[in-house]
Amino acid sequence: MADRFPPDIDMDTPSIARMYDYLLGGKDNFEADRVACDVLLERVPEVLSLANDNRAFLARAVEHVASRGVEQFLDLGAGLPTADNTHHVAQRTNPESRVVYVDNDPIVAVHGRALISDEGRTAFLHDDIRSTDRILDAPETRRLIDTDLPVCLMAVSLLHCLPDEDDPFGAMRALLDRLAPGSWVIFSHCVTDDPAAGDWITQKILSFGTPWGRVRSEREASVLFQGLELVSPWNDDRGCGPRTVDCATWRHPGRDPLTRPADPEVKLWEMAGVAVKR
Ligand SMILES: C[S@@+](CC[C@H](N)C(=O)[O-])C[C@H]1O[C@@H](n2cnc3c(N)ncnc32)[C@H](O)[C@@H]1O
Repeated sequence: MADRFPPDIDMDTPSIARMYDYLLGGKDNFEADRVACDVLLERVPEVLSLANDNRAFLARAVEHVASRGVEQFLDLGAGLPTADNTHHVAQRTNPESRVVYVDNDPIVAVHGRALISDEGRTAFLHDDIRSTDRILDAPETRRLIDTDLPVCLMAVSLLHCLPDEDDPFGAMRALLDRLAPGSWVIFSHCVTDDPAAGDWITQKILSFGTPWGRVRSEREASVLFQGLELVSPWNDDRGCGPRTVDCATWRHPGRDPLTRPADPEVKLWEMAGVAVKR
């Protein structure tokens, strides 16, 4: 795909967006991305199911929020387009749904804009999630999203890409503060209960030269939900204890919600939750 992109794109340094695309079986990745993923998979094979389970979680969560009457989605760290993108899922549930995608990866920007070029209800911003005002005040956002009405703010498999010094949770809070009560959050984050395993992955990804944050503990990632009302992770709306769970089990038909994967050998998973701002 090299000839489809401007020459200033760095094809030799793996990018998280392209690595994730490779894990999802996509074709928008380079040799460096594939080699980097293979290094990770050799030691942490669950990375593959984690990526695919996370993407399936995103679709279930968007469908859930759209079915609750929310028509506006701000999808941060959207990633390369794949089979069921946020606007596909949301507009399938409600054709009036509007979606603004944000991502700081230049290749995601090229593909994202191509995907939505003839789409009046979807826009793509090439920006960093820390640019609160630029994102919310962009003409595309103002055209599609009314912040006086509930908005679904999405940070799916994103905040672990940002180091602590970038204050990823503060960036989310700044965006959320500008959204109306009744707004929703869809969130997942790479977590571990084995700090050595988390450190290995973090150091390995940084060693590729890839911009990255770190794997966090479930407790660290859960900070995002402070002051928000989590919804039940049960598919049948059972009210027993709204909480965060392994993304593979969030409202999954036929699966009970689990806090972590049942296999103790699995050290890494995406902690997921959906919540409402009251
Ligand atoms: C692992 S992918 C997740 C894609 C999608 N949200 C999903 O869960 O299927 C993370 C995405 O976040 C983007 N990203 C990382 N840091 C970012 C930042 N500071 N601002 C905007 N996007 C960022 C990457 O380019 C990448 O596309």
